[in-house]
Amino acid sequence: MTDTYGRKITYLRLSVTERCNLRCRYCMPEDGICKKRHEEMLTQEETVSAIRAAAALGISKLRITGGEPLIKPNIIDLCAQAASVDGIREVCVTTNGTLLPKLAKPLREAGVSRLNISLDTLDPEKFRYITRVGNLSDALAGLEAALDCGYDRIKLNAVLIGGFNDDEIPVLAELTRRYPLDVRFIELMPMYDSGDFGPEAFLPCTVAAERLPGLEVMEPDGSVAKLYRLPGAQGNIGLISPVSAHFCAECNRIRVTADGKVKPCLHSSDEISLKGLDEDGMRETLRRAILSKPRWHGELSYRERSRAGRNMNQIGG
Ligand code: GTP
Ligand code: 5AD
Ligand code: SF4
Repeated sequence: MTDTYGRKITYLRLSVTERCNLRCRYCMPEDGICKKRHEEMLTQEETVSAIRAAAALGISKLRITGGEPLIKPNIIDLCAQAASVDGIREVCVTTNGTLLPKLAKPLREAGVSRLNISLDTLDPEKFRYITRVGNLSDALAGLEAALDCGYDRIKLNAVLIGGFNDDEIPVLAELTRRYPLDVRFIELMPMYDSGDFGPEAFLPCTVAAERLPGLEVMEPDGSVAKLYRLPGAQGNIGLISPVSAHFCAECNRIRVTADGKVKPCLHSSDEISLKGLDEDGMRETLRRAILSKPRWHGELSYRERSRAGRNMNQIGG
């Protein structure tokens, strides 16, 4: 359906858990999260009803997010059910990749067509630092497993952090020559309490373009990234600039959190609950949420932090 600003809403980002096997510094606090009670979260049945209700309103692209969606024991079954919902043409997953060695193949067989994998650094020590607990070798093994499974274009997401990985822009970009995948640099969004970073950490994505001489401009693929390509590369370089050049005018998405809150906008605290509703009730609630989408999320900067009222792991990105 179309919102009050004429934007066609076709994309649902559905978070299936707030929990994660990593603890990325820009995403969640070190001590994990205050776990919500099981009864507060959407059941699998409710989750599938929410997808059906969204599809009835014209949602055709579904992205499963988290936390880390692949820690959910029912993830394969959930993806298979999602892929069979009438009107859902594409089921995508955003993951940290560490569980893909085991799950890349079953996810593909369940009907997932695309994977976006978070990878901020190729240095094992820096990987441990940014994720607080993770091993780079697990993420790389996951990437290899995914490349072997015939997914449509895999995208690597690197959050650009001044003083941490800006020196790795060229080596991360080089992956697009070695593999048929896109590498996307994302501006760090100042979330609720991801407060470890000083002003120098917030770099505009244009820095990535400056460090990659010879980039050719590519046609947009309908995503929030501006696309470029290194000469001779197999995949694109994407620049995602939610802070320096927000893309709210083209926003086509709505979010549902793992505890069943519809978020009309990533950076707004407005939430409407789906918990306990039947499919008709969910459809009407989603319709209301779409009609209440704000025109844009308001100023966002090191000083003007996100008004989401949640950390990224509790929203799903
Ligand atoms: P594609 O389907 O491949 O286009 O993926 P995507 O970019 O929609 O999803 P992904 O989960 O890979 O997110 C990439 C980055 O974009 C993450 O940092 C998200 O937080 C950010 N992002 C996604 N949607 C929005 C949005 O509506 N607003 C803002 N500000 N950031 C977003
Ligand atoms: N700013 C920008 N991107 C973020 N992500 C998580 N937290 C932030 C943040 N504060 C990214 C992850 C993942 C995607 C869903 O969101 O790296 O790729
Ligand atoms: Fe987990 Fe992704 Fe958040 Fe890192 S960014 S803690 S991998 S949900």
